[in-house]
Amino acid sequence: MRRGIIDGKAAAAQIRRRAAEIAARLRDDHGVVCGLAVVLVGEDPASRVYVRNKSSQTREVGMNSFEHRLSADASEDELLALIAKLNRDAAVDGILVQLPLPPHMSSDRVINAIAPHKDVDGFHISNVGLLGTGQRALVPCTPLGCMMMLKEVHGDLSGLEAVIVGRSNIVGKPLAQLLIAANCTVTVAHSRTRDLPSVCRRADILVAAVGRPEMIRGDWIKPGASVIDVGINRVERDGKFRLVGDVDFGEATSVAGAITPVPGGVGPMTIACLLVNTLTAAHRARN
Ligand code: GUN
Repeated sequence: MRRGIIDGKAAAAQIRRRAAEIAARLRDDHGVVCGLAVVLVGEDPASRVYVRNKSSQTREVGMNSFEHRLSADASEDELLALIAKLNRDAAVDGILVQLPLPPHMSSDRVINAIAPHKDVDGFHISNVGLLGTGQRALVPCTPLGCMMMLKEVHGDLSGLEAVIVGRSNIVGKPLAQLLIAANCTVTVAHSRTRDLPSVCRRADILVAAVGRPEMIRGDWIKPGASVIDVGINRVERDGKFRLVGDVDFGEATSVAGAITPVPGGVGPMTIACLLVNTLTAAHRARN
């Protein structure tokens, strides 16, 4: 087991180097340039930053990035027509529609309109079902990044007690499936869980994905546990804005065996895994 602060930035850089090698081989040996289409609806400032980062990292590893922007008052039918076009486009291996969508659109309807084999977010109901039944799926990027870091720390995860705090469709639920598949004993805790600190203290692997700044305290952590902090919360401290996780990092570092920082932990891994998923989609489409 590797101990200390888990450097997500370095791990993500290594994944991007590997992605660039694979993309170059596909291009040089097979004449294939992989493509990722990212769709942004509206002007949400955080979403714009995410989309810009996703597009620039896609280009950096030698893949095509196709950015599509629709105004906040575009109709759902317009968005569905764009998705149908991208589904048919052979130059597009992966499609990502940035969430959240404006309130007049149904994200379920929109996500399920993406061809499952191009659904690099792994949010389509087919991919959710395939993952839940242990079949080959495109897996959501954040949980995939968490698993890569945990495997780096522990090697084999078999028999470990994992507690995930948060039951979202994007992180908590798919991560639970991946940890079950890796032979962990998994508990998914949430806002209604009774005596959350005691539940957390059972964990060899503790994952925080609730979106509540520094909610998880040092004395909730079993000594030596691995702590993965998925939270990215903007808080004001002493008149300045800072990013903090869902875990009180200062308290947790002295108890945990390994811990991801915020920023620089799970965040960079999520985008790196999007590139991995795009390559996976491109490879599967041709095999
Ligand atoms: N908004 C916040 N996280 C995500 C994500 O992982 N994928 C998409 N498409 N939108 C998001």
